[in-house]
Amino acid sequence: MTRLTYLGHASFCFETDKAAIVVDPWLNPAGAFLGAWRQLPPNAHALDWVLAKMREKPVMVYVTHEHEDHYDEETLKKILPHADHMCVPAYENTFLKKLISRNLGIEPKLLAEDDPQRFHDIEFRIFIDESGINRDSAIFMRAEGLSFFDGNDCKIFDRAQWLAERCGPIDILSSQFSGANMHPICYEMSDEEYKQISRQKKMRKFVAVRNFIRDMKPRFYMPSAGPAVFSFPQHEHLNFEEGNIFPKWWEFHAYMDSKDSGVECVPLDVLGSVAPDGQGGFEFEDIAEPLSDDDIRGMIQYYRDVDAAAPKPAPLSDAEVLAFFEHEMNRKIEVLKKNQNITLGCALYFDVKRADGTSVIYGIDPANPALKKAVQADIQAPYYLHTTNTAAIEKLIHSGKGWGTYFLSFLFRSRRMPDVFDSAMGTFFVANDDDDLDFGLKKLVQFRGSDECVTLTSPDGQSSVTCRRFCPHQGADLKYATFDGKYVVCPRHQWKFDCENGGKADNSMDTIDAVITRKNAG
Ligand code: FES
Repeated sequence: MTRLTYLGHASFCFETDKAAIVVDPWLNPAGAFLGAWRQLPPNAHALDWVLAKMREKPVMVYVTHEHEDHYDEETLKKILPHADHMCVPAYENTFLKKLISRNLGIEPKLLAEDDPQRFHDIEFRIFIDESGINRDSAIFMRAEGLSFFDGNDCKIFDRAQWLAERCGPIDILSSQFSGANMHPICYEMSDEEYKQISRQKKMRKFVAVRNFIRDMKPRFYMPSAGPAVFSFPQHEHLNFEEGNIFPKWWEFHAYMDSKDSGVECVPLDVLGSVAPDGQGGFEFEDIAEPLSDDDIRGMIQYYRDVDAAAPKPAPLSDAEVLAFFEHEMNRKIEVLKKNQNITLGCALYFDVKRADGTSVIYGIDPANPALKKAVQADIQAPYYLHTTNTAAIEKLIHSGKGWGTYFLSFLFRSRRMPDVFDSAMGTFFVANDDDDLDFGLKKLVQFRGSDECVTLTSPDGQSSVTCRRFCPHQGADLKYATFDGKYVVCPRHQWKFDCENGGKADNSMDTIDAVITRKNAG
């Protein structure tokens, strides 16, 4: 019988009597992103379940993208020796493929977008979202009596109608509904601003997922892919804070119910499952209940106990950590200098605190990029200030991971003056290595330099706007954007562009060069 089993966080097992596909197995309690993220609820017991499944039948492993809550090398090292094979998307950027080859010693099978595949009696196809250095994928699986679209973190909301056509009827759809970003949680701002931005981001995500569900028309929605448990003491408040970007599934359910979404939300416990009931319906086992704050406190303690029992690496001196930091930044700067068509939007400063609390301040001048020592008085607007400490960077060194990992660890604070997003700066920060950065910067130039335009019409037909086709944030195709007569809203991350102000973004210096035409104007 076909069955879908939830393995916790963003991981699923879709199986028939003959075979199974396991997606994004993160079954390791040591955490992702330098240990900052842990599964909610804990799912380490699912590892034995997966290994037992692999003794029963052939199992294919699919990894959607390289974020560590989806691509966990510790779990993969344990299960891949027993798997039939591993697949990943054929991304244009080969970072993930190279990572697997280097760290796991295998060559995964590369899958192209929307290319029908079969693993025994399971049909599947993947869909790719790749923009700049951001890449992710969704997988659709179907077998006798059950179809499942696993959207996880993939922001393919702009292609929902096309996806629905490609997949046909979808029984279960799962996708991330919560945030997973360093902004605003790592940024210095007033409490009021923090609450306002958090609420705006949370609601934009809720609306995007609701619209996605509406367009994909599944019979059931299954929440997954977050939020995490944050067990580090400096992050503990994130688990309980009202209104931040990490709502729990029961808040999203309440929102969907309040909007009469018409789709039933069914959250599952770890190892909970769903299977066709043979009469055109489905049987769910182990439907999850909302957790209490005490439940979550218990999980935090569990993860702290895991950490306390883990072996500790040999400590590094501040001087060793600072030497690493300088070397890494100088490498990034060399890549930046090779891409002369793009510059950082303002001066970038790093305040790196040593163990004794003293600081080393570095600055990078966008007009003449080089890492130079600076003093506090040099930091004048406009600037971007990244405050970190040698302990956080030491964790990165011990992990052997790239800078994308560090930036999702939330172990730093940032301040930007003015408080606007800069895509070049974002790419400079989170690119994992030199190739990743070079690729991302070139992509940024490519989609920002495109002269292609698109025309959108407001729902009442009274206004239309002509603007750049590709979103300046990460290049989403704005032909799928909405236009309400004033704002164009990008479907991918819901940036708003004020078309009565030339198409300026509401959170960055970017513009889509919009020109409005009104019927009967004048
Ligand atoms: S691509 Fe992110 S808001 Fe448009």
